[in-house]
Formats: sequence, structure tokens, C-alpha cells
Amino acid sequence: MSNSGVSGSPQQQSSEQHYHVDQLNDRGPDVYRREFVKGFVDKWDELIDWPARAQSEGQFFIDLLRTSNKKTVLDVATGTGFHSVSLSTAGFHVTSLDGSAAMLAKAFDNGTKQGLILNTVHADWRRLNQAIRGKFDAIVCLGNSFTHLHCEQDRRKVLAEFYAALRHDGILIVDHRNYDEMLDHGFTTKHKYYYCGKRVTAEPEYLDESLARFKYTFAEGLHYTLNMFPLRKDYLRQLLCEAGFEGLRTYGDFQEAYDEHESDFFVHVAEKSPVPNGHAVTDHLDGTWSRPSGSESQVLNGR
Ligand SMILES: C[S@@+](CC[C@H](N)C(=O)[O-])C[C@H]1O[C@@H](n2cnc3c(N)ncnc32)[C@H](O)[C@@H]1O
Repeated sequence: MSNSGVSGSPQQQSSEQHYHVDQLNDRGPDVYRREFVKGFVDKWDELIDWPARAQSEGQFFIDLLRTSNKKTVLDVATGTGFHSVSLSTAGFHVTSLDGSAAMLAKAFDNGTKQGLILNTVHADWRRLNQAIRGKFDAIVCLGNSFTHLHCEQDRRKVLAEFYAALRHDGILIVDHRNYDEMLDHGFTTKHKYYYCGKRVTAEPEYLDESLARFKYTFAEGLHYTLNMFPLRKDYLRQLLCEAGFEGLRTYGDFQEAYDEHESDFFVHVAEKSPVPNGHAVTDHLDGTWSRPSGSESQVLNGR
């Protein structure tokens, strides 16, 4: 099967997903685009159920961004627009980016229905900084999206892209399912956060340390799948630190004090500090900065 292009390809307009013959090993950089086809995208809001999700998340992300005085937000996993819409409505200046043309088109429509014109950018995270202009106070990568990167090199590359797209004191907020619990003790879910739709089931069809393939079954029997990488919490924390982020805080189901086993989702908040590791930094005229050579890598701090 040929790759989908970055612009909306006929494959993405299709109601059927396009996997390679060996579906479990289809983990290439473009697989998410062949998975988020129009047919699935049209069902996505049934899966996440905006009103129920809004109720379960409450003001969590808005409060986080407001208390740290952030104003410009890059939503890198816009999907159908849930966070782009809620953050725009709350007064943030949001740029809505996604690599799936079908998702972005749906987000734009959803924004219009709420009286908003979303500022959309169609780009893959791996080439993020070629597609955007300027730096952001915050980047949000929400809804278990980072899990769509199947190889470590891409995860590191994408974190470096996110880092570079932030202002010197920017923050990255990234979340994921509690894969640790799933891998170590089997799958259960309270179905309370994120995927709140009552008429949809979301369950792993295959699970090992390198693949979580989820099946989403809708009321009328339609089903779609997603091949994802099961991110362990401490592994992602480590990657964030190694990418240069610090001041890392992790929340379980939106709580600072949480039970590792009971939490369905983790949210990490990572800071791009102007003074990493206490070393002085050099600010450049173009808004970028650099550390002196020989600075040590970050050390994990806190939980
Ligand atoms: C699971 S959906 C979540 C959407 C939304 N944040 C939500 O919570 O409903 C993941 C989104 O991330 C996007 N995505 C995944 N990998 C990407 C990449 N490498 N570059 C750009 N977008 C990507 C997908 O197209 C999809 O819209």
C-alpha cells in the first residue's frame, strides 16, 4: 500500500482503513493517517462524547495554562478539535495542528458550529517547525496521541521539535493511557475519562511491550482499529528529560496525588526552562537559546 501524502489523499477520504497485509507490523510513520480515515473521523466524536469529556476534565487544562500565565497554545493533536475549541473559548490564542487532513477538516467544522474559525495547520510532528511560524507559550499533545509514534528515534525527534517550537519558558502538556497497568495487570477501564461515549467500546485487540492495537466498536457494529505504542509512564518521563525538559510533573486522572494502578490516564507537564540544570544560557536574537557546551543531561526529579 502506498503512503498517504500530507495533503488529504483519497485514502483519507475513505470510510475504510488501509493497513498493510501484516496489520500487526504496520507501524510506519504514516500509519496514523491511514487509520484516521474519514469514516473513523466521522465516528470519533461519538467515541469521545464532548459534553461528558468536558465534565470529566473540568477546568484542568485551562487552570494549568492560566496559572502559568500562558496565552498562545499549539494544539499538536487537534483531532476533531475538542481542546482547540475549549481553549479558544476560554480565551487562549490557539493554533490547531494535525497530520490527518480528515481530522483537521472535522475540527474546522466543529469550530464553525461553535462560532470559531480555527487556525489550522496540516503537518506531521516530525516536520513541525517547517510548518509553523513563531514560538508558543504552550504545546498540548492530548488524547493519547503521542502513542502514535512507533519508534524511539521518532519520539526523540518529535520531542525535539516540540521543544524548539516553545518559547524559552514554554510548557509541554502530554498525556497517555496507563499502559503500565495494562501491560502488567491486564486491561480494565473506568470509561470515565477521554473516551466517554456510552455506545462505543474501546478494547485492546493485541497487546505487548511494542504494540497496543485497540479496537473501537460502535453501536451499529462498525469497528475501527488503531496501532499504538504502549508508552510506559517513566519511559516517557525519561524521554522528556533527555529532550531537555525539566520541572516535570505527572498527574493521574487529573490529580496530583494519584494511585498508579487505578489511574486510567497520565498527564505530564514539562517545562522548557531558560536555565536548564542551573547553567546560564545564551539568548539569541531569533528567540532561540543555547546551553554552554558540556552541560550535563537532565536528571529525573520528583515523580
Ligand atoms: C487519538 S487522536 C486524539 C485527538 C484529540 N486530541 C482528542 O483527544 O480527541 C490522535 C491525533 O493525533 C494525530 N497525530 C498522530 N500522530 C501524528 C503525527 N506524527 N503528526 C501529526 N499528527 C499526528 C492524529 O492524526 C489524530 O488526530
